[in-house]
Amino acid sequence: MKLGVNVDHVATLRQARGTFYPSPVVAAKLAERAGCDSIVVHVREDRRHVKEKDAFIIKEIIRIPLNLEMSVNKNIVDFACKLAPHQATLVPEKRRELTTEGGLDLTKNHKKTEAAVKRLKSKAIRVSLFIDPLKKQIQLAQKLDADIIEINTGKFSESRTPAMLKKELRKIKEAAESAQKRNFFVAAGHGLGYENVKAIAGIKAIEELNIGHSIISYSVFIGIISAVEEMQKLIKK
Ligand code: PXP
Repeated sequence: MKLGVNVDHVATLRQARGTFYPSPVVAAKLAERAGCDSIVVHVREDRRHVKEKDAFIIKEIIRIPLNLEMSVNKNIVDFACKLAPHQATLVPEKRRELTTEGGLDLTKNHKKTEAAVKRLKSKAIRVSLFIDPLKKQIQLAQKLDADIIEINTGKFSESRTPAMLKKELRKIKEAAESAQKRNFFVAAGHGLGYENVKAIAGIKAIEELNIGHSIISYSVFIGIISAVEEMQKLIKK
């Protein structure tokens, strides 16, 4: 099971102050050093966290694959073709959402998605489609000639009762198995954290997990003691 680390929210912290730190570039390098298998960034249309420049530098300095999350809009596809990351993950994007709210609906966005997939693949970029765990979406993804399917675990992560968790887990397992049978590389992600990752990691058909918010959040707590101690030392000197 591979782990892709999404460093978007290091940039969220930077943007909160308009400073140049903390940089998602440094976070990407440290995550690589910690042993993750790929780095994920979402360059949003409103550039609210990771910017194009961050993505270019990250691609330049990491030795593991870069996975660019992106919408299917033409200007972002233009940018992705210039960046040429190892992989592009197509996601739906709404301006006002706090985070990606669901998978791509391939029944509605077929033409636009198809055009984006074709252009990205012509640049030798592996294409992943972020979809909800539904058979229909997997069938449509196959028609689009995508390489990878990333199953949205958002609903599972938000489930608060054992019955809901069980139901969502079953849907994810069935979707992963169906996608694997169709020769997709199967990834999953969204909302996964330290308390719920085990159940998803136990699904054999899933080969990669992409996790961001929980890892970046936890790293604040792991680091806060040393950060305060170091500041105290400087003040006392
Ligand atoms: N996978 C996809 C397609 C996403 O859009 C996101 C959020 O950017 C993630 C994984 C990671 O989600 P989270 O930050 O909740 O771990």
